[in-house]
Amino acid sequence: DWNSGNVIAEQVARIREQVGSGRVICGLSGGVDSAVAAALVHEAVGDQLVCIFVDHGLLRKNEREQVENDYVASTGVRLVTVDAREQFLTALAGVSDPEQKRKIIGREFIRTFEAAEKALVAEAAADGEPIRFLVQGTLYPDVVESGGGTGTANIKSHHNVGGLPEDLQFELVEPLRTLFKDEVRAIGRELGLPEVIVGRQPFPGPGLGIRIVGEVTADNLEILREADAIAREELTRAGLDAEIWQCPVVLLAGVRSVGVQGDGRTYGHPIVLRPVSSEDAMTADWTRLPYDVLARISNRITNEVREVNRVVLDVTSKPPGTIEWE
Ligand code: XMP
Repeated sequence: DWNSGNVIAEQVARIREQVGSGRVICGLSGGVDSAVAAALVHEAVGDQLVCIFVDHGLLRKNEREQVENDYVASTGVRLVTVDAREQFLTALAGVSDPEQKRKIIGREFIRTFEAAEKALVAEAAADGEPIRFLVQGTLYPDVVESGGGTGTANIKSHHNVGGLPEDLQFELVEPLRTLFKDEVRAIGRELGLPEVIVGRQPFPGPGLGIRIVGEVTADNLEILREADAIAREELTRAGLDAEIWQCPVVLLAGVRSVGVQGDGRTYGHPIVLRPVSSEDAMTADWTRLPYDVLARISNRITNEVREVNRVVLDVTSKPPGTIEWE
């Protein structure tokens, strides 16, 4: 007789007991786990919690606004946004190698987060009530995977961006440790969080940075952001969100092909659609999307995103292909 109301009441009591009058910090990634974890902690201790959100410029269209406006409006959470877009672009300039990109993004993320954290810690200490706790959205499957230990920062290196750096200066608060993903979503809905956040499909921490094959530039990000927004809009409109695990949209920035648009020859970039069906992302199959939906996405992207003159479909399962292209 699992009941989200009971779980919320139980966790709120537990958090109050653990935290007392202490201050708490939490990093928001825009994803469902950190959003629900922070909302629970806020429910328990209110403004003793402060959240940090890093805008690394690799977010999807409207994601920052969804956190800054919708999430904050529905929870009342105190939020500090760090605008690090320029910093990430500079660090990524000239880099095309996927592992190199991941390393740079991970490193810059930790740097940025820790600087924001430091400032808040100093502010709180000056105020007489230090920050002693760090919230993490660790789920039950993560606990099992890591051997069930308690109290240590528990992040797969693969997933460390958009999560948090290990930081032993804080005691961890992990209100989702006994929960599965669908239970976390149910709790998020019960707490009144925006559906765009609670229902969000998996999105990698390095964001659009690993969906541009080639260099990550402001122009390439803009092209991909628009194409991705169109694909997502049409998939949602067609009622396909539940059927699709996720659908990476990839820009082949290093590839050009000849096309004809309006009355002229074009030499633009291809966009790849990568819709996959999966249970746990360990294996996946490509989703057989209806042709009319594919046609609508293709027409809209090539009409509305000037630099794109071709849309292609990835029909590879995992293995051998990974879900992401990088
Ligand atoms: P792959 O591409 O390895 O992806 O088949 C499996 C799942 O993991 C997601 N993914 C990531 N998630 N940080 C994350 O938080 C990352 O660095 C990362 N890389 C891949 C991917 O979107 C898919 O759901």
